[in-house]
Amino acid sequence: MIRGNVLAIETSCDETAAAVIHGRDIRSSVVASQATLHAPYGGVVPEVAARHHLGTVNAVVDRALADAGIGFDDVEAIAVTQRPGLIGALLVGVATAKSLAYARGLPLISVDHIMGHIAAVWLAPLSVDPPFVSLIASGGHTRLDLVRDLGSPELLGQTIDDAAGEALDKGARMLGLEYPGGPALERLSASGRRDAHEFPIALGGADTRDFSFAGVKTSLRYRIQDLGDPDDATRADLAASYQEAIVRPLADRLVDAAREHGVQTVAIGGGVAANGRLRELVEEGAERHGLAVALPDRSLCTDNAAMIGAAAQFTPMTPWPDYLAVDAMPTAPPGGIAA
Ligand SMILES: Nc1ncnc2c1ncn2[C@@H]1O[C@H](COP(=O)(O)OP(=O)(O)OP(=O)(O)O)[C@@H](O)[C@H]1O
Ligand SMILES: [Mg+2]
Repeated sequence: MIRGNVLAIETSCDETAAAVIHGRDIRSSVVASQATLHAPYGGVVPEVAARHHLGTVNAVVDRALADAGIGFDDVEAIAVTQRPGLIGALLVGVATAKSLAYARGLPLISVDHIMGHIAAVWLAPLSVDPPFVSLIASGGHTRLDLVRDLGSPELLGQTIDDAAGEALDKGARMLGLEYPGGPALERLSASGRRDAHEFPIALGGADTRDFSFAGVKTSLRYRIQDLGDPDDATRADLAASYQEAIVRPLADRLVDAAREHGVQTVAIGGGVAANGRLRELVEEGAERHGLAVALPDRSLCTDNAAMIGAAAQFTPMTPWPDYLAVDAMPTAPPGGIAA
């Protein structure tokens, strides 16, 4: 374990983030979101994201240090998201981290973004230690891992098509909601009935830990078409029913996987883990089976650098100056997230 302060940087998508971590403690966590910048396009524009990171990253790092009340002399290692993500966006963070680390003679830790989402629950105040089963549901990933060691989670299942966040975002768009769709869909769902419309729960009958969301998405498209121009109450019913069809299998398979593997704790992470209905279903399922449940603060579910500092504790460190050849990678290496 790194004893001193770790400065972590995250720029894999549309959040420019930096944090200072000391052991399990978050000393500072700064997230500058580009969401309003991309909203008019209905999704993240990679080139715009990369350029904006470039203009923002130094100020975000300075702010993280200032909020933690430290300077570079007090930093022991620099961690950065190296994969997976938008290549241009990742490059900005990696180049920044390499430059700062090289200039200060510090080691560098190249972190996998998904390892970061999984490790978020290790941070205080949750301070969860393995073993636990982790559900990560985000914009690009949906997966279940058995975590016996935070350095090498074991994949139990994953989506075979869309990620849960992607399905929520696309559904929100079909219902005329603004980007980012997940939170907007959750707001609209609040006034709808989740049993108003029946949507297919994919792979529901099969004994699997995998997920599929393409079918439910197509089903929503046809339902909206059949209804013509749905009024506000009908749209709210559609939103609530659609959200339920996506988050229920996430919660069910998480709890089933923990029971199957005899693990006493379930944890969630990734942007979709900020969803109130998912959190409620995971809590209910865990309580029904006497499991402990780790629900990270919503700010630790969506992209942030604190989680990258957490995963850095379980990722091999590259000493100064051996990391000069380290490069960003848009996808995880073959075989998944293991470094
Ligand atoms: N309250 C919410 N309810 C449902 N979905 C949400 C909520 N808040 C955020 N999301 C969804 O979370 C996703 C973003 O999560 P995150 O920031 O972790 O994704 P990402 O970093 O783009 O993808 P990945 O982590 O797979 O690389 C989006 O699809 C967004 O709609
Ligand atoms: Mg993410």
